[in-house]
Amino acid sequence: MTKIVTPDPLRFAKGELVLLDQRKIPEKKTYIRIKSASGAAKAIKDMIVRGAPAIGIAAAYGMVLGRKNPERSAKMLIAARPTAVNLKWAVDQMLKVKDRSCKAMLAKAEELDKENKKLCARISENGAKLIKKSSRVMTHCNAGPLATDGIGTALGVIFAARKNIDTVYIKETRPRLQGARLTAWELKQWKIPCLLISDGMAAHIMKTSGVDAVIVGADRIASNGDSANKIGTYDLAISAKYHNVPFYIAAPYSTIDFSAKSEKDIAIEYRDEKEMLFIGGKAISAPGIRALNPSFDVTPASLITAIITEKGVIQKPSLKTMRKFYS
Ligand code: MRU
Repeated sequence: MTKIVTPDPLRFAKGELVLLDQRKIPEKKTYIRIKSASGAAKAIKDMIVRGAPAIGIAAAYGMVLGRKNPERSAKMLIAARPTAVNLKWAVDQMLKVKDRSCKAMLAKAEELDKENKKLCARISENGAKLIKKSSRVMTHCNAGPLATDGIGTALGVIFAARKNIDTVYIKETRPRLQGARLTAWELKQWKIPCLLISDGMAAHIMKTSGVDAVIVGADRIASNGDSANKIGTYDLAISAKYHNVPFYIAAPYSTIDFSAKSEKDIAIEYRDEKEMLFIGGKAISAPGIRALNPSFDVTPASLITAIITEKGVIQKPSLKTMRKFYS
């Protein structure tokens, strides 16, 4: 498996969940030690750990900490962030463990952690085959090691295809700047050529400089391929369609919600308006102004060229192609 040069976003040591505080990256590396399921749920809600696969694994360890009251712990952890289905997936796996001893619960969480790393590696290899020589690739938010506790999904593909990459355009990703703060940090350490752009620049770059592929992760994919990801992904998919740029989603099976028929069944997380109104604690808008802050949007399957998974690539995702692929 590929060696990851960036620090682990999470680990379980001496009976505690240790989280790299992603809110502080790239300024500093600080770690927060969590001792309870409620502490894990709060850390997920506050985005100390973030990214769908990583919060799933953090929740699995949170279930180890909350093993004495599993139903309550499960409820708290699942509610921490409503869109990313990996949370529910991991918690459900943990609830299936009949032996609620620390040893048995920890063994299951470690198994999920290990499996998740393998899924990321396979997604990366499968996706790399789609990236042609000298590609200019655009990405949104952060779908690398910090978001996955593995090599990444979308960024994993970029890493695996690094010899074919000319430039990665990183959308800064307002309001929490996961692109500017985290993706840029990871790509710099991987020494992959990249340029930071603001969110509103994507269509212009496609028209003027040219983009060969867009690749992003996902937080929940419905049975028909509709895919929820960081707010701004839908705009990006529309721009890609208009400019004939292939638009790829990279995600493991733990991100697929087979109980959701389409985007209508995907809950969108709304976050505090302060994320919009302040930057670094400083107000940036008119006093008293209100703001909207949906954290995710859903890209309809019709705008997605293919979904890259650990099993292979689902071209033209739809209810039919998804059903066939996972049958
Ligand atoms: O709000 P975040 O930072 O948790 O959002 C993360 C994303 O939208 C990622 O693109 C998604 O979780 C996929 S990560 C492999």
